Amino acid sequence: MRTTGRTDVAVVGGGPIGLAIAWRAAQRGMRVLVHDPDPGSGASGVAAGMLAPVAEASFGEEALTRLLLDSAARWPRFAAEVAAAAGLTGVADLGYRTEGTLVVGRTADDLAQARRLWTYQRGLGLPITALDATGLHDREPLLAPRVRGGAHAPDDHQVDPRRLVPALRLAALRSGVVLVSAAVRDLAELDAGTVVVAAGCGAAALTGLPIRPVKGQILRLRAPGGEPPAFRHVIRGYNDGRTVYLVPRHDGEVVVGATVEERADHTVTAGGVLELLRDATDLVPELAEYELAETMAGHRPGTPDNAPVIGPLADRPDVIVASGHYRHGILLTPVTAERVVDLLTSGVVDPALAPFTPDRFTRTEHAPSREEIR
Ligand code: GLY
Repeated sequence: MRTTGRTDVAVVGGGPIGLAIAWRAAQRGMRVLVHDPDPGSGASGVAAGMLAPVAEASFGEEALTRLLLDSAARWPRFAAEVAAAAGLTGVADLGYRTEGTLVVGRTADDLAQARRLWTYQRGLGLPITALDATGLHDREPLLAPRVRGGAHAPDDHQVDPRRLVPALRLAALRSGVVLVSAAVRDLAELDAGTVVVAAGCGAAALTGLPIRPVKGQILRLRAPGGEPPAFRHVIRGYNDGRTVYLVPRHDGEVVVGATVEERADHTVTAGGVLELLRDATDLVPELAEYELAETMAGHRPGTPDNAPVIGPLADRPDVIVASGHYRHGILLTPVTAERVVDLLTSGVVDPALAPFTPDRFTRTEHAPSREEIR
C-alpha cells in the first residue's frame, strides 16, 4: 500500500536485519527509509555466518532453538531471493554452503563435554549423529590425529556476511528503499508511520532495553596460493576445555572464532589471538601454514536471556524492536525480517514471537506475599 508523502516505515540500522526488513517491507509496497551512517559496519562485519541451529542449540534455550530452526528453514529460499534480487548468479555468490557442522573433541574431557551437549540436542529430536575418530577423519582427513571423536550435524549451513550485506543493500535499493546516511540519536527525530529499531547494541540507548555489548575477537586466515581450505565442514571444536569454530570459505578464507568477553572495547589482545590460534592449530595443524590475514574484535548485542528482542514497545506500539540477536544475528535474519513485516502488515504480534517481545523485560510478575512465602 504505497502512500504518497509520509514514510511508512523508518528502519534504524542498516545491518543485515535492518536491510532485510526494509527490503521485505518494500516488496509489500511500503515506503521505507533506512537510517545508518555506515551500513554493515556493526556485528555483521565481524560475524562468521554460521547458520547452525543444531550445533548451537544450548541447554535451557528451547524457545530460542525453535526460532533458530524456523529461521534456518527459511534460509535457502531467502538466500535464493536475495541473490536473484541483487543480480547474482546464485547463492554460492553469497558464500552459501551446506556441508554441515562437525563437532569435535580433542581430549577425553573435551569429548565428554561435547557429547553432553549433542545428547541434549538429539533429545530435542535434532539431526546430529555421533562419529568415532575414524568416522571424523574419514570426513575431514586434516583433523589432528589426536582428535578423539565428535558428531555431524548435516543440516547446518553457512553464509558469508560480508557478501550478504552488500547483496541485501542492493536488493533493498532496487525495491525502492531509500538509505539515509545519518545517525539517529533519538526516535523523536523520525517522522514515519512505524519506526523499526534494528540497531544491534545501539538499540539500548534508543529504547532503554537491556541490550549490552559482548565482545568477540575473531581471526581470518587465508589458505596458501588462494586455494580453498582443505576442509569443507564448519568445525566446532572443544579443546582443553575451550571452544572454537573454524569456518572454511571457497575463496580460501578460514574464520576462526571467537572469544566471548563481557567488555565493550575493540582491542584485539595478544592473549585472544594466541588462544584462537592454539585451538585452531591443535584441531587442524595445517592451519599453522595459513596467512594470518585479519584480526578483529566486534560486539554481539547480548540480552539477559540470550534471545533477541522482536516486537512492539509496550508503551509505543508504533515502535517495533528487532535487536539483541546476540550470537545469532545472521541466522535469525530471515525470520526476524519476515515476522516484523507480517507485524507491520497485520498489526498483530504472532504468538510465535511471544517469548521474544520487549515487554518481557518490563513485565512485573506476581510477587509472592509474606503469607504465601510462609
Ligand atoms: N555466533 C558466533 C559467535 O557469537 O561467536
